[in-house]
Amino acid sequence: MTMSVLDAGTPEQAAADALWWRSAVIYQVYVRSFADSDGDGTGDLRGVRQHLQYLKDLGVDAIWFNPWYPSPLADGGYDVSDYRDIHPAFGTLDEAELLISEALALGIRTIIDIVPNHVSDQHPWFQQAIAAGPGSPERERFWFHPGLGQNGDEMPNHWVSNFGGDTWTRTTNADGTPGEWYLHLFTPEQPDLNWNHPDVVAEHEDILRFWFDRGVAGVRIDSAGLLIKDPSLAEVPENPGPGEHPTEDRDEVHDVYRAWRRIADSYEGTRVLVGEVWVPDAKRFADYLRPDEMHTAFNFDFMSRPWGAAEFRASIDLMLAAHAPVGAPSTWVLSNHDVTRPVTRYGREDSSFAFVKKRFGTPTDIVLGTRRARAAALLTAALPGSLYIYQGDELGLPEVELPTTLLQDPMHFRSGGVDPGRDGCRVPLPWRGTAAPFGFSPGEASMEPWLPQPDDWAALTVEAQEADPASMLRLYREALRIRRQEEELGDGDLTWVGDSGDVLAFRRGPHFLCVTNLSSTAVELPEHDAILLASGPLDGGLLPTDSTAWLRITPS
Ligand code: GLC
Ligand code: MG
Repeated sequence: MTMSVLDAGTPEQAAADALWWRSAVIYQVYVRSFADSDGDGTGDLRGVRQHLQYLKDLGVDAIWFNPWYPSPLADGGYDVSDYRDIHPAFGTLDEAELLISEALALGIRTIIDIVPNHVSDQHPWFQQAIAAGPGSPERERFWFHPGLGQNGDEMPNHWVSNFGGDTWTRTTNADGTPGEWYLHLFTPEQPDLNWNHPDVVAEHEDILRFWFDRGVAGVRIDSAGLLIKDPSLAEVPENPGPGEHPTEDRDEVHDVYRAWRRIADSYEGTRVLVGEVWVPDAKRFADYLRPDEMHTAFNFDFMSRPWGAAEFRASIDLMLAAHAPVGAPSTWVLSNHDVTRPVTRYGREDSSFAFVKKRFGTPTDIVLGTRRARAAALLTAALPGSLYIYQGDELGLPEVELPTTLLQDPMHFRSGGVDPGRDGCRVPLPWRGTAAPFGFSPGEASMEPWLPQPDDWAALTVEAQEADPASMLRLYREALRIRRQEEELGDGDLTWVGDSGDVLAFRRGPHFLCVTNLSSTAVELPEHDAILLASGPLDGGLLPTDSTAWLRITPS
């Protein structure tokens, strides 16, 4: 059996190793788009295995895999039909175990994605519930409900889907008559589970053990704040106070994660719980990170802010202050598989992120966005806590505006076609060569990648960037190398230096200073002994606008 503990050596090393997650650099692999080994145009686990050395060279501590389970892919795999196997297009369970142990042999841990809020409509439980009919115990694992009105043709309530549109879909009875409705906070292909049901609780605890037994070092918990619903199905109040929303961030949800934490803690090595928690209130967010709950959660506040010193500083202060009382480290996240790529986002007039604002044809200055994304990469890599890198951000890939005929994301369709959806950040990676598929698939006979890569990605391939000392990839590699070497980076405290308006400067320990110039003119660097790294060329000793420098300093 594979283990998830690295060979830790001395007791001191073992103790430090137990805290690996507090400083870890975690690389997010969207399997479908990472590397395709068999030429079917879809990434797969063998493709990841073939590129583990790439991730080692990049300098990451762990990989988080988006859902890799059997799934009809109605929502890119967040519609799981079997939580204990691997999607046949991605590989097999044996191969997943191999991958986990091969990665670990390189010092890279594996985090998998657990999707507890809903299952696929093809999951056996849902199929059984449909077959068993109204009033059956099989239906109690979900939220089936008779409709309102005389013929039951009105939805039980008017909750709005996270993807827009209705949250209820009506079933058809065996005799062809219209039947009950069922709840889905996302698409109709993703029925919500009823977390008041003991089967649901027990099943997920068993799934956790299944994967921890196979050596995974942690789980990323999808839609973690949504599991518990108000059983009265009350409508959403106009201005819900804390814990008052009928489907979001309800107090009882914490019991789920306390139980999961006990399971994680019963395993050797530190198995971590990482929450996808979209809770705007920083205090309520930090409640998920109390010592007996999750280890960390994605900090989406920073990622959502527009480019600017005041916004960034406010976000950093807010999130560090929120984490401090619970003793958890913050995470730093510039993007993921749901979000507009940073080089695109930071090149737009409105550089903040919000799902509801995504539109086709938004003017973008990629040169500006890339310069800022480089500066943001160094800024976030210097902040206290763990760091997430979404595949392709280390190559500076832009968001791709795909022809609407090729789009697959339900967010696009459920928006009535106004939101381009999330496919644009899920385009397969360019590895080498001058023409698509840029080494994503093995040979000429390969099928086209499941989403097409732009022709001008030749300059963005791994191969091209390895050869270019000024590339985004080389910047990321160097940053992660220094981050590993500098004991003061990762977990710990930060001290702001000065209050110089549009220039953000903070110390990590006595000898390390990070400076980001968010003003519109070049500025003088603070006194320093050496420049460890800069996100772009300096301007005769000045730090240009939209740039970050890492400095070695002597404490004054
Ligand atoms: C999370 C995932 C997203 C998915 C949704 C529903 O937000 O990151 O990709 O569509 O949950 O599972
Ligand atoms: Mg393949």
